[in-house]
Amino acid sequence: MKRTSISLALLVALTLATFGWAQDKPAQPEAKDAGGHSVLMKKKLEYTQNILAGLANEDFDQIHKNAKILNTFAVLERWFRADTDAYRAQLKIFRFANDELIRLSEEKNLEGASLAYMQLTLSCVNCHSHVRKHAQ
Ligand code: HEC
Repeated sequence: MKRTSISLALLVALTLATFGWAQDKPAQPEAKDAGGHSVLMKKKLEYTQNILAGLANEDFDQIHKNAKILNTFAVLERWFRADTDAYRAQLKIFRFANDELIRLSEEKNLEGASLAYMQLTLSCVNCHSHVRKHAQ
């Protein structure tokens, strides 16, 4: 009986730590590097820049590969900080633009992929702006 309540308490604590606590603190970054920057986000920037390089060089494989990796980040983000409608909206646009980049690079459609890239970068800017306003 005692063991059951301890396991239950542990389960509740774990659930709270994973979902409740994380959602209460939307702008709290996870892993930080020595400079205090979010490692996850820095990687995101790197993959986004790789997509731009792919577009500029008409390298559809590069676009495809990096958009696929970026998509896995969006799944992580949803669990970490899905706190407001505005945040979730930007996350959706981010995912949509990524999916379009994947689809259009498969079709070797450079113009379409370039437009999707613009949409992607707008979601970066708008989500960050939302997070900054929220943090004040
Ligand atoms: C749905 C919301 C959302 C989207 C979309 C988003 N980010 Fe972020 N980003 C955040 C949050 C929240 C932070 C601040 C917390 C942190 O550092 O993890 C952040 C911070 C950053 C930082 C600063 C990290 C540092 O060094 O302190 C970079 C760089 C970054 N994002 C890159 C990008 C790029 C590039 C994109 C678009 C391809 C993007 N992000 C899209 C939510 C988002």
